[in-house]
Amino acid sequence: MTQDELFKVLVAHCKEYGFIFPSSEIYDGLAAVYDYGQMGVELKNNIKQYWWNAMTRLHENIVGIDSCIFMHPRIWEASGHVGAFNDPLIDNKDSKKRYRADVLIEDYLGKIEEKIRKEVEKGRKRFGDSFDEAQFRATNPNVLREQAKYDEVHNRYKEAEQTNDLAAYKQIIVDCGIVCPISGTCNWTDVRQFNLMFSTSMGSTSEGANTIYLRPETAQGIFVNYLNVQKTGRMKIPFGIAQIGKAFRNEIVARQFIFRMREFEQMEMQFFIKPGTELEWFAKWKEQRMKWHVNIGMGAENYRFHDHEKLAHYANAATDIEFNFPFGFKELEGIHSRTNFDLGNHQKFSGKKIEYFDSEENKAYTPYVVETSIGVDRMVLAVLSHAFHEEQLENGETRVVLSIPAPLAPVKAAVLPLVKKDGLPELAQEIMNDLKYDFNCQYEEKDSIGKRYRRQDAIGTPFCITVDHESLTDRCVTVRERDTMTQERVPIDRLHEMIEKKVSLNVLLRNL
Ligand code: GAP
Repeated sequence: MTQDELFKVLVAHCKEYGFIFPSSEIYDGLAAVYDYGQMGVELKNNIKQYWWNAMTRLHENIVGIDSCIFMHPRIWEASGHVGAFNDPLIDNKDSKKRYRADVLIEDYLGKIEEKIRKEVEKGRKRFGDSFDEAQFRATNPNVLREQAKYDEVHNRYKEAEQTNDLAAYKQIIVDCGIVCPISGTCNWTDVRQFNLMFSTSMGSTSEGANTIYLRPETAQGIFVNYLNVQKTGRMKIPFGIAQIGKAFRNEIVARQFIFRMREFEQMEMQFFIKPGTELEWFAKWKEQRMKWHVNIGMGAENYRFHDHEKLAHYANAATDIEFNFPFGFKELEGIHSRTNFDLGNHQKFSGKKIEYFDSEENKAYTPYVVETSIGVDRMVLAVLSHAFHEEQLENGETRVVLSIPAPLAPVKAAVLPLVKKDGLPELAQEIMNDLKYDFNCQYEEKDSIGKRYRRQDAIGTPFCITVDHESLTDRCVTVRERDTMTQERVPIDRLHEMIEKKVSLNVLLRNL
């Protein structure tokens, strides 16, 4: 199966097992909007809990807030979102379809990269063990030709991006002969800027209505509460404010399932610091955030940093933590050194003094900020895409298993009476009643034990606890582990301790 096919199977699996549904599905859905089902919401909550506890419990100087989605419209002028939160758009005049110009170019570059990759793979097959990839790339005429084409377009694209030159974007599209995937033509409009914020109106009459925006990031809710939290919490710099909440962006290219949505959730933390210390804190937060990711156990090789060459006007350093999604390494989290741009601008636009009096330095200043910002939905996708496997078993059957790291798994244990009679359901219920206060458990008595194991594998349940006739006398049960499928006989009164050791979020948190 190609990565593309595998991704389609994963999307179907997420729907079939209650993780993620297209929103408004009975009305044929709403593009780039998804609902979380009974399994998805548990996974999502566990991810949020891991982040929240890592931020607010493991750092005495980080506190959390929950600010509103609706905010004063001037906030978005101060933050720069009204003026500059844009994507470069282009329309095809024949199909009337709209595209992001930068994405059309990136897809084109992606295709060249794919051609080069295939050429290298052919070489590897041809030369076997003696294959030297670096030498092959430096000498093979097909690779050299494609690489030269890639470099030329890539350089022009980076230049257009740096200078925000919309005409240059269009010229690249025309020169590369990039066609609309629907009409197949190159009949393009000029490239224009398109603001990504959703707006609505607030007020009881349309005359009195005020345009307000659905927040495109949660960060501004933190900035405008900086003074409140600093004063009421008697916070001393350096300190952080964390928040988890919804954000909205009118994304034009809405693809790749929950990777890019119009309504999504962010986990953001703004760390307020003394001016001049920002690069030191930026380096510390880069390290800490990577540690948080790798600690989950999805393989250090699946993450990498991508430092930004082009910095936003307010930033003096920025990096992405990229994850190896089925469609390649893509941004999962952003870490930005935002200077005092946001607090400074809110001070200017609101007319309220936003400063910190540093008693050690005996002076007041507007704090600088290092931000960490991760999309909850992208994190859900990272976990699901890494966890999804189809395995060929020795008996010829296929098993679909979600090897979700146990502390994040939606259901921690399934309690399964071998048969629906002879007092086994009663003992199984007794076990459920003991475990359910600490772990999300499922009780299942329908179908053969094999079928029940498969269903639990498909939702990623780390443990299946089977109650059989012997359990009635020896007070032991069979515990089957999801990934290895090994079975172990465990006394009922040791179940709690055994499960706790593997599934507790605290196990992850203590490693940080
Ligand atoms: N406050 C900074 C900020 O919002 P960003 O790089 O635009 O920075 C941060 O977004 C993170 O939010 C991204 O790394 C990504 O995980 C997530 N994100 C952004 N746009 C998204 C979208 N349309 N759908 C899902 N997640 C998104």
